[in-house]
Amino acid sequence: MVNCDNSRALKVITGARPNGQNFTIDEAKANEIREHLYNYVAGLLDLNIRIPETRVEVVKIDGGQFAVLIRQPCIGPDQTTSPPKTKGAARRLAQQMRAGFVDKLYCRTNHRPGGLFRFGADPKVSNFCHNGDNSLWLVDVCPPRLWVTSGSGEKPMVEMFALDEERQGIEVWKHFTPAGVLVNTLTQLGALSIAHWDIFKGELGFPDQLLEIDIQGLQPNVYQARLLACELGWQYGIHQSELKAFFDKTHFERKLGPKQWAAIKAELLAWRG
Ligand SMILES: Nc1ncnc2c1ncn2[C@@H]1O[C@H](COP(=O)(O)OP(=O)(O)OP(=O)(O)O)[C@@H](O)[C@H]1O
Ligand SMILES: [Mg+2]
Repeated sequence: MVNCDNSRALKVITGARPNGQNFTIDEAKANEIREHLYNYVAGLLDLNIRIPETRVEVVKIDGGQFAVLIRQPCIGPDQTTSPPKTKGAARRLAQQMRAGFVDKLYCRTNHRPGGLFRFGADPKVSNFCHNGDNSLWLVDVCPPRLWVTSGSGEKPMVEMFALDEERQGIEVWKHFTPAGVLVNTLTQLGALSIAHWDIFKGELGFPDQLLEIDIQGLQPNVYQARLLACELGWQYGIHQSELKAFFDKTHFERKLGPKQWAAIKAELLAWRG
């Protein structure tokens, strides 16, 4: 839950989840989340990613449970409120996303042996706010995308609740790998303004061969499906609202069985005509 008022943003983390898969935050868990958040914010600042000053508090709530509060200055509207209307504006936005975010994550010091990022991030356009001078700020630091101790080793954290193995794998790809972050940054921009897809691809240096995906052979990776949807949407003039509906259908928390997956492929095939 986020409340952005009187120039302060307040985010409250409880274990309540919209789809009813609630989890419990006891005092130890709340302190652990706070520590992860601080480490994550420090990691992003080390990479020179622009984020608002972030303070974290643990508070006791009803029923012996705890909540974590995140306080930040309110930066300004997020990217979704002003999709670029001109080629110049689209170019500037993509350049800012590349220089201020993608390239920073790609920095050599942010790679672990094996190729995954040490600190990942969620490239959703709504997670980037701009202030008067139009610089972009990453405001979303929760869940913290860093490596946490697990058993005798470490694992990348993608959500605060457990995901099944397949979803966990896709989410790690999305937040912690160079290809995943690039695909997701690009498709998020496409969902904002598909008319400027070619500019976004060009500015982000997206390799065209990655777009040669055979629809029938598409793996059940919603982010690959979105990439293809943007490419087809641009080529065949699919309306922005239809593309948005496609993104809603492919939200990662939706469980896509074989039937839904077949429907997604059929929709893409129909776009191609
Ligand atoms: N510091 C801030 N300044 C301005 N607006 C903010 C700030 N923090 C959050 N917001 C607004 O609140 C929205 C949600 O915040 P945030 O992304 O941190 O929470 P979230 O629960 O992770 O949301 P989501 O799941 O949609 O990513 C942002 O998309 C943005 O519009
Ligand atoms: Mg967010």
